[in-house]
Amino acid sequence: MTEPLIEIRNLHVHYASEGKVVHAVNGVNLAIQKGESIGIVGETGAGKTTTALSIMRLIQPSQGRYADGEIWFEGKDLLKVKDADMRAIRGNRISMIFQDPMTSLNPVYTVGDQIAEVIWAHHKVTKDEARKRAKSIMELVGIPAERSDDHPHQFSGGLRQRVGIAMALACDPALLLADEPTTALDVTIQAQVLELMKKLKRELQTSLMLITHDLGIVAEVCDKVAIMYAGEIVEFGSIEEVFRSRSRHPYTQGLFDSIPTMEKKKRRLTPIQGMAPDPAELPTGCVFHPRCPHAMEQCSIQRPPAVDFGNGYKVSCFLYESGAAEAGAGRETR
Ligand SMILES: Nc1ncnc2c1ncn2[C@@H]1O[C@H](COP(=O)(O)OP(=O)(O)OP(=O)(O)O)[C@@H](O)[C@H]1O
Ligand SMILES: [Mg+2]
Repeated sequence: MTEPLIEIRNLHVHYASEGKVVHAVNGVNLAIQKGESIGIVGETGAGKTTTALSIMRLIQPSQGRYADGEIWFEGKDLLKVKDADMRAIRGNRISMIFQDPMTSLNPVYTVGDQIAEVIWAHHKVTKDEARKRAKSIMELVGIPAERSDDHPHQFSGGLRQRVGIAMALACDPALLLADEPTTALDVTIQAQVLELMKKLKRELQTSLMLITHDLGIVAEVCDKVAIMYAGEIVEFGSIEEVFRSRSRHPYTQGLFDSIPTMEKKKRRLTPIQGMAPDPAELPTGCVFHPRCPHAMEQCSIQRPPAVDFGNGYKVSCFLYESGAAEAGAGRETR
């Protein structure tokens, strides 16, 4: 197997809040290959944005810290490189589409100038050339080039999100982190933005980490999916494995059960019982055990192992601890 483009190893991120330690990310391991797209799915507060911000090294020291772990990218541990080197990587090799597109836009400058500025800062080109390239990136993401002289507030939510995507693409990144890029958009625009993501993967071989609440979006855009719960990846595998498997993590099962289908339309949806734990007071053992319909005694005592079903498909749950191979062999498809 070739070296991954990025590899997160045992990442722990803690925030300090009102005298408490918020355990936002707790031992995340994740590798993304070149050209691969990985979806990160989980409820609000699961640590998805924190994971992406850590890759960009954008956790503000006044708010939080990398308590442990490494993030390897092109031969360097991003948590250890000098600030100047990190600035060069950020926006050059790795860029991020933020949950709120206005975060990355400056209200004072025109959209065309902002995109051109990124190109100019990262490539050895003249300002004129940068402006020309900015227009072609705008067209690539479906913004008419003549709107390059408009300011961010003149754009609709959907177009603004595209500007965010154009900004993130302006430096031609090897890795694109997209944090809920479509949540604020209406369904038609959402479909267009997703189509755009697929096109980028196809045409530019960009690796993608796509954060979303929506399993449907993951199925459409991603090769693999990581299910995140209370700062941990509880299940990881290819879209085919995770969507077909019956040996899923009970949390993932809950997520699937809460998706409306034609069949389930008339019945009530089955949301997961209870609430996600407070990351300042995480439960002992398996973080999901207080909500889990299959919880056993050991689940409240020990952290479950990541059971490997082969092909990189892993589920962190005691249900599958003994004989993952047989369980794997016995798995039925839906
Ligand atoms: N700056 C901060 N200070 C203190 N706690 C924080 C800070 N940022 C995030 N948190 C907490 O860390 C946990 C993880 O937050 P994060 O934003 O990574 O979750 P998320 O999975 O992106 O959620 P969402 O789906 O709502 O965007 C949450 O409990 C959140 O309240
Ligand atoms: Mg978030």
